[in-house]
Amino acid sequence: MMIVNDEKCIGCGLCVKDCFPKDIELVDNKAKINNVTCFKCGHCIAVCPTDAITTDEYDMAEVIDYDKDTFQIDSDNLMNFIKFRRSIRQFKDKDVEEEKLSKIIEAGRFTETAGNMQDVSYIVVREGLQELRRLTLETLNDIGNKILSNITPDNIMYVKYAKLWVRMYDKYKENPDKEDELFFNAPAVIVVTANFQVNGVLASSNMELMTNALDLGALFSGFFVRAAEGNKEIREFLGIKEGKQVATCMVIGYPDISYKRTVPRKAAEVVWK
Ligand SMILES: Cc1cc2nc3c(=O)[nH]c(=O)nc-3n(C[C@H](O)[C@H](O)[C@H](O)COP(=O)(O)O)c2cc1C
Repeated sequence: MMIVNDEKCIGCGLCVKDCFPKDIELVDNKAKINNVTCFKCGHCIAVCPTDAITTDEYDMAEVIDYDKDTFQIDSDNLMNFIKFRRSIRQFKDKDVEEEKLSKIIEAGRFTETAGNMQDVSYIVVREGLQELRRLTLETLNDIGNKILSNITPDNIMYVKYAKLWVRMYDKYKENPDKEDELFFNAPAVIVVTANFQVNGVLASSNMELMTNALDLGALFSGFFVRAAEGNKEIREFLGIKEGKQVATCMVIGYPDISYKRTVPRKAAEVVWK
């Protein structure tokens, strides 16, 4: 529930104006929150000039007052940061500290969600990585063989992946310790799930930025997501709850490579109207 401190409220109406679900009104020059249509986005808490609004549902100790010096990022720096990030496929043989993994998850937790659902969940895999790798490679091998035994116009674009998955599995079977083409010997994986997949994907994007800010590197494993789709064994192994979709799989570790410059990209296809 959102709570107004009447002694602090000056009746400015800023919360009323910014309340998207229109759950706040001014009564006797004080904000009155009905807590009926409220979806707990916290805009009223954030906008109040006298800090008069709190909630008993979330931890108010997390709320920080705006400070330009520590909240602002220079746009050119941000652009360079985005351009310089790379998918990392070479990792050091070094564990990632739990505090760093928690900070990455924190970046996901504070990412916006549709309707403020806050439905994104995180599964951190470290000890179970080899088992997850085995399950994933077995599944990709099955999917690959199925595609290759029945190539149709619908699946022809996946043939190159099917061949790759079968080859990856064969190599794994030959020597599991030789080369890890799935998780690239990274020490940690975070599987991001959500009821509404877009929420998990958005969270993951901010998590990747945080990963890089912590001097770590990340790789999104689309192969894992493909294997996990509707796969009971993988879902059970990870304890993925009913109703959750796998949004991303983030492979995380200390990069064993350093890039000297950014990369070029296609020109953006943009329509201005
Ligand atoms: C959703 C998604 C899934 C991906 N899946 C894989 C994967 O399974 N294996 C892999 O080696 N790279 C994977 N990548 C990495 C892409 O190949 C990479 O982002 C692209 O080549 C551009 O390189 P960059 O990330 O270094 O800019 C994935 C990237 C994204 C965004």
